[in-house]
Amino acid sequence: MVSVVVGGHFGDEGKGKIISYLALKDNPDVIARAGVGPNAGHTVYKNGRKYGLRMIPCGFVNDKSRLFIGAGVLVDPQTFLREVGETNTGDRIRLDMRCAVIEDRHRQEDVKDKHLSKTVGSTGTGCGPANAERAHRTIKLARDVPSLKGFLADVPEELNRAVVGGKRVLVEGTQGFCLSLFYGTYPYVTSKDTSASMMAADVGIGPTKIKRVYVVFKAYMSRVGEGPFETELDEQRARSPLWKRLLEDAKSKGIQGRGASETMAGYFGEKGTVTGRLRRIGDFDYSMARYSSMVNGATDIAITCVDKLFPECGKVRDYGGLSDEAKQYVRKIEEEVGVKATLISTGPDTEDMIDLRE
Ligand code: GTP
Ligand code: IMP
Ligand code: MG
Repeated sequence: MVSVVVGGHFGDEGKGKIISYLALKDNPDVIARAGVGPNAGHTVYKNGRKYGLRMIPCGFVNDKSRLFIGAGVLVDPQTFLREVGETNTGDRIRLDMRCAVIEDRHRQEDVKDKHLSKTVGSTGTGCGPANAERAHRTIKLARDVPSLKGFLADVPEELNRAVVGGKRVLVEGTQGFCLSLFYGTYPYVTSKDTSASMMAADVGIGPTKIKRVYVVFKAYMSRVGEGPFETELDEQRARSPLWKRLLEDAKSKGIQGRGASETMAGYFGEKGTVTGRLRRIGDFDYSMARYSSMVNGATDIAITCVDKLFPECGKVRDYGGLSDEAKQYVRKIEEEVGVKATLISTGPDTEDMIDLRE
């Protein structure tokens, strides 16, 4: 049984949290990371320690799962090897021999004058230039890098063998739907599609094998970097009772940005995992969420950070424990998107979860 987790908005929806929960709860035999590459930072906690993972699958929190990185993913050997050490996963992680490799020159090109970091606000991790070179078919692959020799595998063989054997496979997406090169807010997007079908292709699993697609949404929205953000908090949006209450609380704590969006980023502690940039904050965009669920073929939606909008719901683990206001908020998202919210996250810890799956 194969499940895929993807971001429904602009990335940073808390996929790391959802994936680590599923890794511990469902005990997948195999967990594979898909997506663009080290431009993504997933936040996960293991034994009280915080990790901001850019290469290693978040599912490493389950010590028994075998870990893979799919051929579609760009690998930065330095970051990969460092994280293998930090997470102590050397004996159970493998990457596809066909992963393309990011080199110094890709990173340099990403940040040079008027290049991607300035124009689209890229993460500066070299992913855009590396994918461009991959399309030119001149890039180096993992099989050509001596330091990666001991980690190489044929990931589709491994994953499909697990599927045939009736084992559970969890595929981790990165980024979010609105950053898709195909469907996002072009040109302010990443260098590849970010929908569930892309994730399946990244790790070499055919569409007929996918049983479940979890699309992760934050209860509000955030975007790091440049580009359109229709529901970003402006003066008018900030006047809704929900934001008014939170802005007043921020003020009482001495948190004040240049506008409501920045104030709320400070209040929520919303900073980019990779770049440290303050994220922009906005209202939940229902029509975007509906479209994103459609293209992703969502079977389930997961909603994170409910506790940030409704602090009284912090660490609640059963639906009945949510306030009426929070229940109504979740119900509205379900109705607008047309998919059931089966995972509701109420805090950063893995266990802070309401699990409504059958
Ligand atoms: P990308 O692949 O970069 O899109 O990452 P991501 O979706 O894994 O998200 P990231 O870890 O970058 O950011 C999410 C932040 O929200 C992290 O700091 C998490 O610890 C935090 N978080 C996730 N779920 C919850 C939640 O339900 N409540 C609270 N308070 N924080 C949460
Ligand atoms: P790049 O992927 O580094 O080229 O960046 C292109 C755009 O995607 C920028 O706006 C980045 O901020 C955004 N982006 C890429 N990866 C992530 C992510 O994992 N989380 C949030 N934003 C991302
Ligand atoms: Mg992130």
